[in-house]
Amino acid sequence: MTRVLILGANGQLARHTTPFFLDRTDARLTLYLRRASRLKNPDPRRVTIVEGDVLDSKTLMAAMQGQDVVYANLAGDLAPQARAIVDSMHATSLKRLIFISSMGIYGEVPGEKYRSVLDPHRDSAAIIEVSDLDYTILRPGWFTRAPGIDYRITQKGEPFQGHDVSLNSLSDLIVKLALSPTLHARASLGVSG
Ligand SMILES: NC(=O)c1ccc[n+]([C@@H]2O[C@H](COP(=O)([O-])OP(=O)(O)OC[C@H]3O[C@@H](n4cnc5c(N)ncnc54)[C@H](OP(=O)(O)O)[C@@H]3O)[C@@H](O)[C@H]2O)c1
Repeated sequence: MTRVLILGANGQLARHTTPFFLDRTDARLTLYLRRASRLKNPDPRRVTIVEGDVLDSKTLMAAMQGQDVVYANLAGDLAPQARAIVDSMHATSLKRLIFISSMGIYGEVPGEKYRSVLDPHRDSAAIIEVSDLDYTILRPGWFTRAPGIDYRITQKGEPFQGHDVSLNSLSDLIVKLALSPTLHARASLGVSG
């Protein structure tokens, strides 16, 4: 049984992925978010809800105790958040991190110039990549609500393919990564439909 800490659990993709974990695995989840009253516990036998900001290292480290995997689904000023996650994972001896970033952070999208709006995603990825964690950074295209699970992966250094990706595809991939400590470890993956 895998224990997964979901940071930014009220985010769009995290809310989509939580039922994938509950329906397809026996994982235990800790949903970590600011203003926890926004989220109803979907299964109190398997889910714990923790109110906290990722930048509050004391609360973050307490939530990390006993976990196997950290799945970070964050936005905004991502570089200090990535720093806090890496430091807290070191302090609590955790290794496995799945971190949601964005397509375009390496200027890898054919025909598109790098845009400074991606600086937080680029800088946070750089912090994670120089750590010794077993990270998988996901660089998805634009999220869609298409029903299917159908995605392709590109490695860092390869041109990104496509443009969109379904939330279903991303949730499917996140669950697979969380349940396998070595799958795409120390990789930054473009994910598109
Ligand atoms: N939407 C797309 O098409 C798309 C495409 C490619 C990449 N992405 C990227 O994928 C990531 C996830 O997307 P999403 O749509 O799920 O994002 P989202 O709905 O904006 O969720 C991000 C979550 O991060 C939380 N957060 C931000 N700072 C925090 C902090 N200091 N401590 C704790 N929580 C914090 C927010 O909490 P609050 O609710 O408390 O503000 C929010 O719930 C984002 O980085 C996004 O830029 C999105």
